[in-house]
Amino acid sequence: MQLKPFLLDMWLDEYEHDIEFNLASSEGPRWTVNAVLSLAGEEERQRFLNHELVYGRPAGADGLREAIAEMHDVSAECVQIMTGASEALVVLMWLAAEPGANVILPRPGYPPFSALPESLGIETRFYGMRKENNFSVDVEEIMRLADARTKLILVNSPHNPTGATMSDAELDRLHEFTSARGIQLVSDEVYHPIYHGRETKSASRLPQATVIHDFSKAFSLPGIRTGWMIEHDRKRRERYWNARTYFSISNNSAGEMLAEIAMRKRDVILGKTQETATQNLQHLDRFMAGHRETLGWIRPQGGMAAFPWLVSGENARPFCQAAAEQGILLAPGDCFDAPSHFRLGFAATGPEFPRALDRLGKLVKSWPAQESITASKPQ
Ligand SMILES: Cc1ncc(COP(=O)(O)O)c(C=O)c1O
Repeated sequence: MQLKPFLLDMWLDEYEHDIEFNLASSEGPRWTVNAVLSLAGEEERQRFLNHELVYGRPAGADGLREAIAEMHDVSAECVQIMTGASEALVVLMWLAAEPGANVILPRPGYPPFSALPESLGIETRFYGMRKENNFSVDVEEIMRLADARTKLILVNSPHNPTGATMSDAELDRLHEFTSARGIQLVSDEVYHPIYHGRETKSASRLPQATVIHDFSKAFSLPGIRTGWMIEHDRKRRERYWNARTYFSISNNSAGEMLAEIAMRKRDVILGKTQETATQNLQHLDRFMAGHRETLGWIRPQGGMAAFPWLVSGENARPFCQAAAEQGILLAPGDCFDAPSHFRLGFAATGPEFPRALDRLGKLVKSWPAQESITASKPQ
């Protein structure tokens, strides 16, 4: 079995740990254990400190599942806890890996979407999220790709890396299509509910859909490594539970306790991410307007990252390397099969973001490829 190199995480691991401004990651502002605990009452805080480090339950702690169920307005039995949305993706692809099966995925997309099924020998089919089309999802295109062997269709809204969103009506239409054909519709919603325009609803309202979510992105607590699935179908839930007992048995139980506090105080946690993302996106608006000769972009509709491109069409990796040398980390678009692009996260640096943009602006102005294009233009 071949698992292709995870270019994005190789890049992040090389630079992320001692860079001055991390604009490569797509999370929100950081939280400490202390700050999360301070959202709880004294009794809960003591419970956390005296918690015995035993195995948790494979489906997840009861209290955490109840808190998540309340957010989605479903019953707690529909909630399966996972070790991050990453484990949910592994479980889903593992269970879809039948001879001759195919899965339908977005391109560009979060790299494991395709790397996992490819490694398992599942055929991958891609629908495009094209800049010429504002990165929007064409539901008709997805439907044309499906056939009798399609096991799973994956959508990701808000989308990584573009920040594009699908409307409720588009998701409803796709759900109708997949339900009629017995295809599993998976909605990766790790950036929900952070929006910068039209807000959309979670797919957990749709009876045949499977939702993947986590505490890493909108909640900005990636270190607790906790994610979840919402699944209305009991048979499917039993298969996830079984797979999980093999893959990781249960979560980090201390992380689950922090996750439950964060979920119960989600107005504060999500509020901080939304506020930071909204403010910093305004700075990014001005920045992009000031550099439109060199950089193109489509303003994200949700999430905490944008996917700009070099208008020269050149590969953006040397540009990202030059930025890293200046202390600014961007993620090269070739990690997402889109080499002229780069991913720019605008919420993880919090109030430092304008300073990062000032410095990045100097690099953009001096970018050599752009100079040579200008120099070669007829006078
Ligand atoms: C769209 C998407 N899904 C899933 C994940 C996995 O996240 P985690 O395992 O931290 O929950 C990520 C992480 O970047 C992501 O961007």
